[in-house]
Amino acid sequence: MTGPAGRAARSATGRRRTPRAVRPVEPVAPLAPEEPPAGIDREALTRTIAMVNDKGGVGKTSLVANLAGQFAAAGYRCLLVDLNRQANLADDLGFRDGPADDRGAGLLVSVVAGTPLRPVEGVRPGLDIVAGGARLVDLVPLMVSRVQEQGREAFLALAEVLAPVAGDYDLVFIDCPPETTILTDLALAAARWVLMPTKSDGGGLVGMRLVGERFALARELNPDLGLLGAVLFATGSRSRVVHAEVREAVEEAFGGHSPLFTTSIRHAERTAQDARRLGRLAHELEQEVAAQPAWWASLREGGGSARRLSPTAASVAGDYRDLGVELLTLLRATEESTTPSARLDARPEQEATP
Ligand SMILES: Nc1ncnc2c1ncn2[C@@H]1O[C@H](COP(=O)(O)OP(=O)(O)O)[C@@H](O)[C@H]1O
Ligand SMILES: [Mg+2]
Repeated sequence: MTGPAGRAARSATGRRRTPRAVRPVEPVAPLAPEEPPAGIDREALTRTIAMVNDKGGVGKTSLVANLAGQFAAAGYRCLLVDLNRQANLADDLGFRDGPADDRGAGLLVSVVAGTPLRPVEGVRPGLDIVAGGARLVDLVPLMVSRVQEQGREAFLALAEVLAPVAGDYDLVFIDCPPETTILTDLALAAARWVLMPTKSDGGGLVGMRLVGERFALARELNPDLGLLGAVLFATGSRSRVVHAEVREAVEEAFGGHSPLFTTSIRHAERTAQDARRLGRLAHELEQEVAAQPAWWASLREGGGSARRLSPTAASVAGDYRDLGVELLTLLRATEESTTPSARLDARPEQEATP
């Protein structure tokens, strides 16, 4: 990602190294005036984004992998934290069963011992990972017993172990599991922002309502938490009606503003299959598609039956690029604004989106 948005984000990134007098703006009015509990460096977590929807299959993992992968390729330092037992990020990034794949053991140990996370470096240049996987099964009963002993403050456990390393990154994404609310609560207590993918069907929208309820609870622990926006995923429709319906559902779930990203990710099943099968991100497939020989050349050389990559990868990569630019522009605007209305001004096109 180059150009004005990229430069803008770099200057916003520089902001963290130069303390600012102005606090980032809340898209939804702050709930609690008190300071967050002492000991957690919330400044280090200002670029931490939790990808949340209680429903599975709405694009959380795909968005996290592609956004972070793209930003890393553009020169940003990115960290992915995977809270999923299935660990589909390992498939999307192609590190399943490799040295980076500890199946969630490192994450579990850090939360148990209260020691800083130890990301595995370089699943891509500039992209580090705290892997998820089967070991996270043990995190759920651990959290249940801690919540019984300490109350909801126990959910700050991830914030405590993430904050010491988050400051090393320009962007941190947390990939949340569907339905395992206790792990989502950990993410909501750590993140500065929630990004919520949804499909336009009923399931994704119901999942979004459930997130709305947990979001409100999480803000009692983490008053900084804000809703960055919802993203329409794997949609075949760019119609005004579909966007309006989704926006209405976000508004119902979260009250107040209903930020729906202008960019949606198009439905592209073959590209999605190629991506997960090969462990490649959309922008990487885009390059491979451009490099593959023309179909007639393959045919003439006897390779006609070999599986070819879908050319739609280029369009999907373009959607992720547009979304990335929109996201960085919005982050920068919220970080530099002083009033909620200024934040809304940062996305005037929102109301006019088709
Ligand atoms: N652009 C796309 N169009 C259609 N299906 C997609 C697209 N991108 C990813 N998928 C597929 O959608 C499914 C759900 O995506 P995923 O990101 O795993 O959702 P979640 O993390 O919310 O469960 C996966 O099978 C994935 O391969
Ligand atoms: Mg997932």
